[in-house]
Amino acid sequence: MKEYARAARAQGLVLGLVPTMGALHEGHAALVERARKECSRVIASVFVNPKQFGPNEDYKKYPRNLEKDAERLAAIGVDVLFAPEAADVYPEGYRTYVSVEGISERLEGRSRPGHFRGVATVVLKLFEIVQPHYAYFGRKDAQQVRIIGEMARDLNLEVEIVVCPIVREADGLALSSRNAYLSPEERKAATVLHRALAAAKSEVTAGVRDALELQSAMRRVLEGEKLARVDYAEIVSAETFEPVVRVARPCYAVLAVFIGKTRLIDNSLIEPAADGSAEFLFHF
Ligand code: PAJ
Repeated sequence: MKEYARAARAQGLVLGLVPTMGALHEGHAALVERARKECSRVIASVFVNPKQFGPNEDYKKYPRNLEKDAERLAAIGVDVLFAPEAADVYPEGYRTYVSVEGISERLEGRSRPGHFRGVATVVLKLFEIVQPHYAYFGRKDAQQVRIIGEMARDLNLEVEIVVCPIVREADGLALSSRNAYLSPEERKAATVLHRALAAAKSEVTAGVRDALELQSAMRRVLEGEKLARVDYAEIVSAETFEPVVRVARPCYAVLAVFIGKTRLIDNSLIEPAADGSAEFLFHF
């Protein structure tokens, strides 16, 4: 992979990387599509990274289907599939980790200790191996891409981080490899995340700026769904991921909800309208 990257760069080609854990869906495809527009070569990685899963999480049962993923990536115009083995990424005696302090301890980091340390470590390794000019991430994992952006800045990385919008099913459910775990009944219940975000949107549109009010609106919807158990439902700063009191600057409405045993996350971006009015735009 390094040899390919070195040769391609020497030829002046622009390299785009789309890091994934496989079990590909339209959300991943949208990242590839964006990369294709901006880069002369697109590299997709498929690697289920053991270091970002907690001991009681789904590393073992995470959906894996490399053959199908490879076909799909070829069909949508990916030039190179990088699918390393865990033993090659983390050989015996591996002992170096990247921690982006502060922001990694909140929300996802609080519920999944060590998760972002595993993510930052593998993403830095992927950047070193693939040497991309651009790397594409989804806003579906808003905290993740924020952390990777911080890492890139703090460590003076050459790569530019590109954030892409959330791809959703027709009923609003954000696409996720973990949706495959849902039973038909749970799949119906899973729309509650989007319904909760929609409730927050109604409030914002009606002029509500108080974060607790927005949070309550989301919780009311979530609590109405029998199969749902809320991990967190908050309004946080888009910069620090700390809770805000009022919506004044760009914020995220962030959710983590168990539907049965499956933990799903979702978010919406709330940002001031560019026209300088007091209005806020709400992006699902
Ligand atoms: P994975 O969950 O496979 O996601 C790969 C990329 O696809 C991430 O940037 C994620 O935000 C994006 N993505 C997932 N669902 C999406 C959706 N519905 N709409 C838009 N983008 C979506 O995130 C990871 O893998 C890993 O943590 C990784 C970055 C690869 C490091 O191991």
